[in-house]
Amino acid sequence: MPKLPVFKMFIDGQWQSSSSSQTFQKLNPATGRPIGIFQRGSKHDVNDAIESAEKAFGKWSEIPAPKRGKILLKVAELLEKNKESLAKELTEEMGKVLEESRGDIQEAIDMAEYMAGEGRRLFGKTTTSELKNKFAMTIREPIGVVGCITPWNFPFAIPSWKLFPALACGNTVVFKPSSDTPRCAIRLVEILEKAGLPKGVLNLVTGSGSSIGDAIVNDKRVRMVSFTGHRDTGKGILKKAGIKKVSLELGSKNVVIIMNDADLSLALDGVVWGAFGTTGQRCTAASRVIVHDSIKEKFEKMLLERTRKLKIGNGLDKGVQVGPLINKEALRKVHKYTRIGLKEGAKLLIGGKRYGIKGNFYHPTIFTNVSPKMRIAQEEIFGPTTAIISAKNLDDAIEKANSVEYGLSFSIYTKDIDKAFEAIRKLQSGIVYVNASTIGAEIHLPFGGVKESGFGREGGWTAIEEFSNEKTVYVDYSGKLQRAQIDVD
Ligand code: UN1
Repeated sequence: MPKLPVFKMFIDGQWQSSSSSQTFQKLNPATGRPIGIFQRGSKHDVNDAIESAEKAFGKWSEIPAPKRGKILLKVAELLEKNKESLAKELTEEMGKVLEESRGDIQEAIDMAEYMAGEGRRLFGKTTTSELKNKFAMTIREPIGVVGCITPWNFPFAIPSWKLFPALACGNTVVFKPSSDTPRCAIRLVEILEKAGLPKGVLNLVTGSGSSIGDAIVNDKRVRMVSFTGHRDTGKGILKKAGIKKVSLELGSKNVVIIMNDADLSLALDGVVWGAFGTTGQRCTAASRVIVHDSIKEKFEKMLLERTRKLKIGNGLDKGVQVGPLINKEALRKVHKYTRIGLKEGAKLLIGGKRYGIKGNFYHPTIFTNVSPKMRIAQEEIFGPTTAIISAKNLDDAIEKANSVEYGLSFSIYTKDIDKAFEAIRKLQSGIVYVNASTIGAEIHLPFGGVKESGFGREGGWTAIEEFSNEKTVYVDYSGKLQRAQIDVD
């Protein structure tokens, strides 16, 4: 067997080993074979990373934002140039099919270009003062050292949602990626380094969330933490963060509602893509489908027929539509929910078992006759499992859609414009799609949830708002004491 490559962490402009001398291996989820050896960072390494970010902050934040933006343009260029090889590496490390890996990198390219432009648009506002000869405005300022803790399911896209606006705004960063995708994170940091990011502005620490993630969150020198991942981890972060800005993109239990006037073949495309794309491992995945009673049977048949034909396999192989789950633990979790669904009395239409014996493959799984209170309709599974629930009418569908603790990305298929607008208003989610699936958010619009899906809006102009502070400035040029609220007549 060829010798495994050893990857390092990036602290204070140096690629270095962990001070703990500990490492871990990362396995290819399709083959079970290791792809490399990675550093298990220690609290000491986190301390060095924060110190380096703190030291770099002064100079970096004083560089004019358009100039910082230019580095991001270079990042976009380098990502574009290396897109194909990075996409292959991504599939090898995380398992998603090659076409989706390209999409993941494209999302990072788009974000780099968008945030490069934001460098020329860090808008504040001016407004009138209540007093004469007084000027009022706001200006945008960076926050300081930002901790970015990211998941494995979009190993280029999600870090780009955090790192690029954070850097455009003039913050410095300590980046802790998921232990399931350390290599993608390293590739991204290599590109940022090559693009000319000064020493210390971005620091990468790999390793376990419970030790190094906590060390970032607990540290007072870190002024903001941006986290995407599991709800329970998000809750823990909120408890430990103390007084610092926190942005949380957590899980969800999204839904596609299909009304009886919908274009069923369009809805079918949306459900299959939303439920089984990325093997259901998206926080935007369509893990519930609420179908109008009168078309339920017909739609189920269509869905069953299409799902049967899905090609499962290694994401690098041509024609494969559903790749493996990320790791063995995920495989166990998905199967646990199959057992829960059966126990709760839902009807298994298809799937419900592993696919093959090698790798972490699981059959696309559909339950029907699901009632909204069942655990398979309430809890995030993060795999290729979806639950069909029936509804009498729009009110019933919306009530059931909202009957979960989460609210990230909900969708409705209908041709009735009145129904569509009613749903847009009543669905309790951060994102609503009409006649489109629950997945596929675009980078120049806000992305984030309501309820237990978290708070904070990444993407678009709101990312700039997240990663900066707005400072209020008053300039009184009257030459006398003017007392607000008192000297107003
Ligand atoms: C996620 O699953 O955490 O909208 C993010 C989408 C993707 C991002 C998903 N652009 O599905």
